[in-house]
Amino acid sequence: MDSELAGARLEDQPAATGVGAGELEDVAEERPGSLGVLGVDERVQGGDHAPRLGADAPVVTAPRPSPGFDALARLPGSHVGGQCLAVLMAARDPIEVWDDEAATFDEAADHGLRDPAVRAAWRELLLGLLPAPPGHVADLGCGTGTLSLLLAEQGYAVDGVDFSRAMVQRARAKAAADTAGARVGFVVADAAYPPLIRGSYDVVLSRHVLWAMDDPAWVLGRWIDLLAPDGVLVLVEGSWSTGAGLTAQQTVDMVERAGRRAELRMLPEAAYWGREVSDERYAVVSR
Ligand SMILES: C[S@@+](CC[C@H](N)C(=O)[O-])C[C@H]1O[C@@H](n2cnc3c(N)ncnc32)[C@H](O)[C@@H]1O
Repeated sequence: MDSELAGARLEDQPAATGVGAGELEDVAEERPGSLGVLGVDERVQGGDHAPRLGADAPVVTAPRPSPGFDALARLPGSHVGGQCLAVLMAARDPIEVWDDEAATFDEAADHGLRDPAVRAAWRELLLGLLPAPPGHVADLGCGTGTLSLLLAEQGYAVDGVDFSRAMVQRARAKAAADTAGARVGFVVADAAYPPLIRGSYDVVLSRHVLWAMDDPAWVLGRWIDLLAPDGVLVLVEGSWSTGAGLTAQQTVDMVERAGRRAELRMLPEAAYWGREVSDERYAVVSR
């Protein structure tokens, strides 16, 4: 296997909280090279949509800040003293933490969207925020692919990226069982270095992921790079009762510091979460 990914050798990669060299090798070995160095056969079984991977878009290109526990402790709103995912991720390999979450992830009403009323609420919300279908959507930190599939069902072509193989396996299984599965593809990769074609997405969507990044502002820049000239960025985030997360103001500030307009939509309605919530939940949209 050629370990050179667009100029960056595996052994040069930082042992960050992102995808480690071993994981990269696994991912690279799944890629037969049909799309260049990062050529990937990441097709959903039964479908014919492959993620639009950039031949020049490496999984990991350069060391990124990886301050780990200290950074999470410094993130305003981050609650490192309590039992929350931020603590687990700081203490353990975050990929393992999310792998462990995969089996039960969809049980939460807002994750699996199994309740038709909750599903309808997210569908209406997203259709109101996104440009009308069809269009290409990058779903970064897609988890079990719930939103990817919801959007594929509405006619969008969706590329999901997640570094948890267990999450992606579930996403693929769901896609294979969904008539819209042919419009969605998933790749196992670090969303901090999305291996997608830059400047080509009508929508970059990410729900509940930016907060977990070591350096959210830096990662946000990479995500904005994926947008086509009129592309829309949709960030769904929260500052949760656990203490983890990003406040709406932090996310708005981050988007504006990246040189973009930010519209804030608060999401306090129980319809989105399947229960009453009192903490801060919101979407930031940048057109
Ligand atoms: C709270 S879940 C949200 C999943 C999905 N966006 C949703 O709303 O249902 C966070 C997801 O982000 C993924 N994730 C966290 N950090 C990541 C990274 N650096 N690269 C890729 N995926 C990441 C995790 O594996 C997990 O699936």
